[in-house]
Parts: sequence; C-alpha cells; structure tokens
Amino acid sequence: MNEREPVAESVIRLQAVKPLSRGHQRLVFQHPLQTDLLIKVLRAEYVQDKYGSGSSFHNRHRRCREYQPFLVEFREYLVACARAPQCLPYLQEIVGLVWTDLGLGLAVRKVTGRDGALAPSLNRILRLHGALDSRRKHLLDECLHHLECSDVIIDDLNDCNLVLGVDALGAERFVLIDGIGSSTLVPIKPLSALANRWSKRRRIARLRAGIQAKEQALVK
Ligand SMILES: Nc1ncnc2c1ncn2[C@@H]1O[C@H](COP(=O)(O)OP(=O)(O)OP(=O)(O)O)[C@@H](O)[C@H]1O
Ligand SMILES: [Mg+2]
Repeated sequence: MNEREPVAESVIRLQAVKPLSRGHQRLVFQHPLQTDLLIKVLRAEYVQDKYGSGSSFHNRHRRCREYQPFLVEFREYLVACARAPQCLPYLQEIVGLVWTDLGLGLAVRKVTGRDGALAPSLNRILRLHGALDSRRKHLLDECLHHLECSDVIIDDLNDCNLVLGVDALGAERFVLIDGIGSSTLVPIKPLSALANRWSKRRRIARLRAGIQAKEQALVK
C-alpha cells in the first residue's frame, strides 16, 4: 500500500489470505465479512507492467492510473443499468469499492453454483465435460443474445469470463464476470451502436469457434 492511501481499521486485510482465484489482471478474494461478495484487487505484476515506469506514456499519465480498469468496468456497468437493464442478470453485479491492504478492491456479487461454491467458468465446464449439453447451449445462446442486443461494450469475451451460476430460484444462467467496457484510445464503440454490435458479433463468433474446437479436440 502506498503512503497516500488511508490506513484505518476499516482497511480489509487480504495480504495473508489465499485468493479464491487468480486472473491475469486481478486476484479474487472472498469478502471477509459478507459471504455473498468477492473482492477483486489488481495484481502487483500487472500494475507494474501496464502502469509502471516502463509502461506507455499514455498509461503513466492516465488520471486514474492503475485504477483505470475499475473506471472502465464501472462506466460500462452504469451503461447497462441506464440503457440495458434486461442484460443485468447476465452481468456480474458491481457493489462498490473497498480499501484493502492490497490497494483499492472492487466488491462484486459472487456468482455461485448449486453447491454454493464459486460458479464454474465455461472453460472449466468444457474441460470437465468436453461439451455443453443442449440445455446449457441454450442458456449460453440466451446470455450472448442479451449481451449482443444491448448497448454494453464487451472487449474481452472468453470462456474464463463466463461462469455458470444458479439464481435465487435455482435456475442456471451464464453470467459475464469480466471484460465489459472499452479501454481503446479512440472510442469508436461508445459513439456507434453499429460498430459496437459488429464488434460483439465478431467476438461471439470467435467464442463459439473456440468452444467448437475444444469439443472437437475431445472427440478425437
Ligand atoms: N463474480 C464472480 N462470481 C464467481 N466467480 C468469479 C466472479 N468474478 C470472478 N470469478 C472467478 O475468478 C476468475 C478471475 O476473475 P476475473 O476474470 O475478474 O479476473 P481477471 O484477472 O480480470 O481476468 P483475466 O485473466 O481475464 O484478465 C474468473 O475466471 C472466475 O472463475
Ligand atoms: Mg477474466
């Protein structure tokens, strides 16, 4: 933690805690006080690479510096709330920001499976079962359809960012837990719904091709 940040009893201690999951950008922790929440903090190596002294001029001078990814995700979540509430069930719920001893953390609603544990990612399901059954294929289509038809920008659609959770009524649903928002320098997609839709179609086609390749690899 650097010396500009508040040191207070309210800071959540995570340094000595084992994360539930490690992404490329972030470590994902159980919230110590609220079982239904996760806290995502930026990995120190990622921050150093992307925003440290050897990084691009642009990144070093960003107003939010290493917290830029939080801003991008927040903004897009607000877009979904304002313009596409029908796709909110398919997006991770952002609850807020919390101070931790690993820097600012993004508090989000945990998506869980039937056993109450972290929902499995699509990647994990494919590795475990080799393929999606027709019911789950339909659930994936439903999720992707809602995301594609909305104003939400998606810049990272891969099978680790989609998890299969269970809602309050016990029904399964795919949820996108990462990858929303645009971080490009020249923001075309926020300005053009057409460009945004076209980009999402390409990403969805790439995701589907990846799923098919994994399914076929297992058949061989
Ligand atoms: N809200 C959530 N509910 C359940 N599981 C989650 C949630 N958010 C993240 N996860 C799990 O943690 C993993 C890493 O989270 P996330 O994708 O946010 O990290 P990241 O570092 O930004 O990812 P990337 O590696 O794509 O850059 C996910 O693949 C997923 O398995
Ligand atoms: Mg991810």
